[in-house]
Amino acid sequence: MPLDNKSIIKGTYFPPGDKSISHRILILAGQVIGKSEISNLLEGEDVLNTLKAMRLLGVQIKKKDKKYFVFGVPPGGLFQPNQKIDFGNSGTGIRLLSGLISSNNIEVKLVGDRSLSKRPMKRVTEHLSRIGARIELKKDLLPPIKLKGTGNAVPLIFEIPIPSAQIKSAIMLSALNTNGIVKIKEFKTTRDHTENMLKSMGYNIKVKEKSIHRFIEMKNNKELKTINYNVPGDPSSAAFFICAACLRPGSKLIVKNILFNKTRIGFIKTLKNMGGNIKVIRKRKIHNEFIADLQIEQKKNLNSTILKPADIPIQVDEIPILSIAASFANGLTVFKGLKELTVKESNRLLLIHENLKKIGVKSKVENFDLYIFGNNYFKKGGAIIKHNDDHRILMSFYIANMICKKNNVIKDKSCVKTSYPTFFKDISQFSN
Ligand code: S3P
Repeated sequence: MPLDNKSIIKGTYFPPGDKSISHRILILAGQVIGKSEISNLLEGEDVLNTLKAMRLLGVQIKKKDKKYFVFGVPPGGLFQPNQKIDFGNSGTGIRLLSGLISSNNIEVKLVGDRSLSKRPMKRVTEHLSRIGARIELKKDLLPPIKLKGTGNAVPLIFEIPIPSAQIKSAIMLSALNTNGIVKIKEFKTTRDHTENMLKSMGYNIKVKEKSIHRFIEMKNNKELKTINYNVPGDPSSAAFFICAACLRPGSKLIVKNILFNKTRIGFIKTLKNMGGNIKVIRKRKIHNEFIADLQIEQKKNLNSTILKPADIPIQVDEIPILSIAASFANGLTVFKGLKELTVKESNRLLLIHENLKKIGVKSKVENFDLYIFGNNYFKKGGAIIKHNDDHRILMSFYIANMICKKNNVIKDKSCVKTSYPTFFKDISQFSN
């Protein structure tokens, strides 16, 4: 059923495989000689582009009965591809693979779609140049990335000033073929799946967290081991369903097998602070990642909340859908420090603000802080949503139909395929 202001979210939901983990398991399994096995890989376009890239770099990947089998090459053993590599819409793909390639003695051109071609790459390549890779960017900032890696990477100490798991992971992947100790200092709020996966694969990695920082030490004196990995459900995809359930008293949703890593579930804490009735009913740890089953049983309307800049990285991809929850929550919600949102698949801060206005919600942006004046009244809706092919903006403003008198118009829904190809099918199954 299409979503509208009478929809209630009910049922048992298995979110699709986590996007961040799917990219990383393809890349890391691709650095081990032997057979690794992956199940529940997210078959979104972003991840499939990483898969194609790994194949072009010499890794064999086969699919049988929904499972992927990866036969990797050793660190430093990537093949010279005979064509440029296209990452489509994926910032994670292009940035992580820049890191991996930078310490291999090959020459590659990495390109992306219109949106990716506008996203900053210098934040990654400035670190990779230091190890000895030779890199050219368009206007010294943007893709295409022309990258000549080095087979003799210099082990260094890196400090990352931006809270970004993509920058950190690019450096970590370059370290796989760097002799000596590589040290990284970054913000502990960024997602740590690369670290967790490397630990599970037997790599020599030490991770410490102290006050606001994380310190990583890597030494490539232990070989990576093959792995059997069942990718847990993506909290960033589940966030649309969990927020939808919290919007509407009477909803009852069970979420199964969701990745419950603390760097990814900030939005759950935020929704609970707003009055969301979310309970963990089972929790376990597999391959150094927490995984949980949740129950959402909403009995009352939400209230407003305030997020500080330090809270943002742990829910950076969920701000668009949280802005819908805030619109229907009583009081003034403030999300502070959203600068990173302006360099995502679109300028998300701008699009959230513009679309909220279109559907009849008052909001303002000041110094990268977003103010949303929410209440439990239905909004006028009936707007043509401007999504600029940004999957998370599109899905968030589709959920917004639940809080509007009149459904909004979304033209060309195809961009959901980047992260969540079955979004519309799934949401229609859980909305009554
Ligand atoms: C990701 C990290 C985040 C996030 C992106 C996925 C990752 O980006 O927004 O969707 O898998 O490492 P930044 O690291 O640039 O914040």
